[in-house]
Amino acid sequence: MDKKDTGEFVTMHDPRSGKEFRFPIIDGSVGPSVIDIRKFYAETGYFTYDPGFTSTASCDSCLTYIDGDKGVLMHRGYRIEDLAQNANYLEVCYLLLHGELPNQQEYDEFAYDITHHTMLHDQIQYFFRGFRRDAHPMAIMVGAVGALSAFYHDVTDINDERQRMIASYRLVAKMPTLAAMAYKYSIGQPFMYADNSLSYAANFLKMTFATPTEEFSVSDSVVKVMDQIFILHADHEQNASTSTVRLAGSSMANPFACISAGISSLWGPAHGGANEAVLDMLEQIGTKDRVGKFIKRAKDKNDPFRLMGFGHRVYKNYDPRAGILRASVHNVLDELGVTAEPLLDLALELERIALKDEYFIERKLFPNVDFYSGIILKAMGFPTSMFTVLFALSRTVGWISQWKEMHEDPRNRIGRPRQLFLGEDKRSFKPMDQR
Ligand code: SDX
Repeated sequence: MDKKDTGEFVTMHDPRSGKEFRFPIIDGSVGPSVIDIRKFYAETGYFTYDPGFTSTASCDSCLTYIDGDKGVLMHRGYRIEDLAQNANYLEVCYLLLHGELPNQQEYDEFAYDITHHTMLHDQIQYFFRGFRRDAHPMAIMVGAVGALSAFYHDVTDINDERQRMIASYRLVAKMPTLAAMAYKYSIGQPFMYADNSLSYAANFLKMTFATPTEEFSVSDSVVKVMDQIFILHADHEQNASTSTVRLAGSSMANPFACISAGISSLWGPAHGGANEAVLDMLEQIGTKDRVGKFIKRAKDKNDPFRLMGFGHRVYKNYDPRAGILRASVHNVLDELGVTAEPLLDLALELERIALKDEYFIERKLFPNVDFYSGIILKAMGFPTSMFTVLFALSRTVGWISQWKEMHEDPRNRIGRPRQLFLGEDKRSFKPMDQR
């Protein structure tokens, strides 16, 4: 739907000029309305100031809505709980890219297209050879995804709607192949080709864990867990990595370069890198009797330690994705044949203590999607270094859907924030012998 000009305004009195200014209030379909300040600087001579963008809407979007106070996440109006329970990842990809859940024919065509774009140009394997074997898989993904623009020149005209869609399909299709290759390279095993007879998640698991020397099989329940993890990470409004993709895309950069920029941003431990950091934190804590010590450190302003997997800029309630993972983690571990997972017991104890602690209650700090995902991924056999790669694999459809949505808006302009300058004013140059 289009935004609604309400005919209402907020007014601002500027004590310096004595002038009154009015700025329109615009309503969306759901969630907070906005104050349209696009002419704010031109009319008032002031910049607005919002480091970290805590109160700033950077764009319009119809893709994903989050109600942080209620812990609600919806994609195109469908609640994440319903999608995780009833859909598969490719259905969610179709929904994000096309705006509606696919009927059977649309789904079959989409799945066929994605399945038949999973292969990479054979030269790309030599790109991997340039990395040391112990390179972090995220470093490989940043490079390999950016390098795709060297192979797919035919879809880099971002003004061509058809090319934008082909690039979107290629990225969704090829991320599992690249992710599996990054893992195989890191453990010195040969790359596995895609198997077009398998579903998206099953194919990824086979490319990751199969070897040319053995028959490979994986249970439907494990495939379902993998697919559900992909769904839970698919898109999440204007988070740091999505905003990175949009800003890179606003300069008309090609989609592969934009997704590579998104992967770089996601890597940070404050963002998608948190799933890896949670496991490292749990291993550092080690035993339940040490939980109190780390909670104390997390509350200490002089200690940089934070409780990884806790807190969120938007959710001031339980992250619904964490809730889904928490509810299923015991079943999932049972299905994976994991009878005892001390890290899970530790995570549950950490959550129990934190959620009773005034510091966390007062700041509305709850577990986020990264708090439980790593425990499941570890049980599936992934090393912690692959956790954020899986997040990037899942989020690629969200990034590219947001990128596509941005380019479908004819008003799209290059993003160019301003600043509050605190540096030196003009001063005369000093020759070297006078410094
Ligand atoms: C993701 O944006 C998204 O949508 C991201 C994501 C997605 O799907 O794309 O949901 C994925 O990135 C989830 C978040 C993963 N990151 C972590 O788990 C890292 C640990 N969390 C924190 O670094 C932090 O909570 C952030 C980065 C997630 C949010 O930071 P904000 O919004 O800038 O919050 P803040 O730093 O201003 O914190 C507010 C207060 C501060 O204390 P005071 O200064 O008010 O006294 O809460 C404290 C913070 O010190 N705080 C924490 C804490 N998180 C916030 N204290 C201890 N441990 C924490 N984890």
